[in-house]
Amino acid sequence: MAKRKNVSKQKNKGAAKKPPRKVVKLANARRSNGKSNGLPRPSNKPYGQAGKALEGVKILDFSHVQAGPTCTQLLGYMGADVIKVERPGVGDITRIQLRDVKGQDSLYFTMLNGNKRSITIDSKHPQGKRVLDALIKACDVLVENFAPGTLDRMGLTWEYIHKLNPRMIVASVKGFGPGPYEDCKVYENVAQCAGGAASTTGFREGPPLVTGAQIGDSGTGLHVAWGIVCALYQRIRTGRGQKVLCAMQDGVLNLARVKLRDQQRLKAGPLTEYSQYGEGVPFGPTVPRAGNDSGGGQPGWILKCKGWENDPDSYVYFITQAPVWEPICDLIGKPEWKTDPDYATPPARLPRLKQIFATIEEWTMTKTKFEVMEICNKVDIPVGPILSMKEIAEEPSLRATGTVVEVDHPGRGKYLTVGNPVKMSDSITEVKRSPLLGEHTDEILKDVLKFSSKEISEIKNSGALSAPKKEEKAA
Ligand code: COA
Repeated sequence: MAKRKNVSKQKNKGAAKKPPRKVVKLANARRSNGKSNGLPRPSNKPYGQAGKALEGVKILDFSHVQAGPTCTQLLGYMGADVIKVERPGVGDITRIQLRDVKGQDSLYFTMLNGNKRSITIDSKHPQGKRVLDALIKACDVLVENFAPGTLDRMGLTWEYIHKLNPRMIVASVKGFGPGPYEDCKVYENVAQCAGGAASTTGFREGPPLVTGAQIGDSGTGLHVAWGIVCALYQRIRTGRGQKVLCAMQDGVLNLARVKLRDQQRLKAGPLTEYSQYGEGVPFGPTVPRAGNDSGGGQPGWILKCKGWENDPDSYVYFITQAPVWEPICDLIGKPEWKTDPDYATPPARLPRLKQIFATIEEWTMTKTKFEVMEICNKVDIPVGPILSMKEIAEEPSLRATGTVVEVDHPGRGKYLTVGNPVKMSDSITEVKRSPLLGEHTDEILKDVLKFSSKEISEIKNSGALSAPKKEEKAA
């Protein structure tokens, strides 16, 4: 793999400076030493120096926009060689979406496509098809999130791919699974709505609400990455690939499962932990929106903190967890609530939550969110400051762990990205900048696909890897 500058390593004590070059092939894991359940002998290299989790795995990344690229970036963080196939002259549409630097790849693209190589191929050109076929033979996993039917129209049906490479895992993101909506194109918020998240988010009096966290796109990408890793593991036993599909509706529903839990609980009576219950508002046939109520059994709410009048994020999430009720009473100056039968037990408090949180808020409004955090955590009261994206971007501890990483880009300069949220003691993440369009075309043709110079000239001269003339003008 070509070396790239501007690599930022995930911080990990004892991490090696340079990963070893030797790659342990997945198939080797089957070789039994007779003593260890088919696994190779435990490496005696220092932790962090025995390669990365997915080293040796090659991903043919046919994904675009957000859902697929989230998945392949995560696989790249774990050490897979991700080869992103892009349309000549155009590339992933997000390269030009929401641009903040004129003429340069957007943050939308750069923050979702780190740790990848880019090759441009016109998948509908015969010579492009030739390169794709070679990639299918060389790779372990194909990831795509085209509209339904697109891959088939390119001639890349499961049967075709499987014939070329029976070991290939073909992973797809679609909006919906088989059923009435299977042919629909889907974006983030459509999935949030269809997966049950929007109907259960927001305030009872207001309309359904979508959340800022991209649970439809990035959430589904995460699910697919998990499916791929499981399929790779199964392939060690079976020797063959399989289809991996995650519909965005299914991914969102998986994340909203507590609301399907509540839907079924409604049959047994009102949802007593919802503040609606305490307010005496009857429940209907479906799970209502619950504002900032906690999704678990411990009541919680978002409360104002000092400075809230001018700072839209001067708030704290406060949980009145039963075991710490007494310290809460002491902190807020209501020691009598510890023994008052109207307040002393969780069931007694349920109909009074609105008033209780209003009283706690009188106290939180005298403190900053960070002061509330410090005071409450000393006595084990769970609270969470509402952090703005500015605060997160500037938070030193997130930089220190490699969760927020600054990388350098030859076109746009330095930018922040989110590193690997999962930290592993023996697979150290190096966050690399996103590739320029077609940056690695030559090295992939030569080093990965082993085309000769003559073949490379033939393919290039055919126009299969470059933008048609009129598209060049438009760009
Ligand atoms: N060479 C030649 N053609 C290429 C190409 C390449 N390298 N890469 C893509 N194309 C073509 C496709 O073949 C397709 O052409 P066709 O419709 O004539 O067959 C065309 O580009 C558009 O691809 P498509 O995926 O259909 O993009 P779209 O802009 O129409 O739809 C989505 C975008 C996201 C709505 C759609 O891809 C989708 O629903 N994906 C599944 C759900 C999903 O992932 N949604 C979230 C995205 S974050």
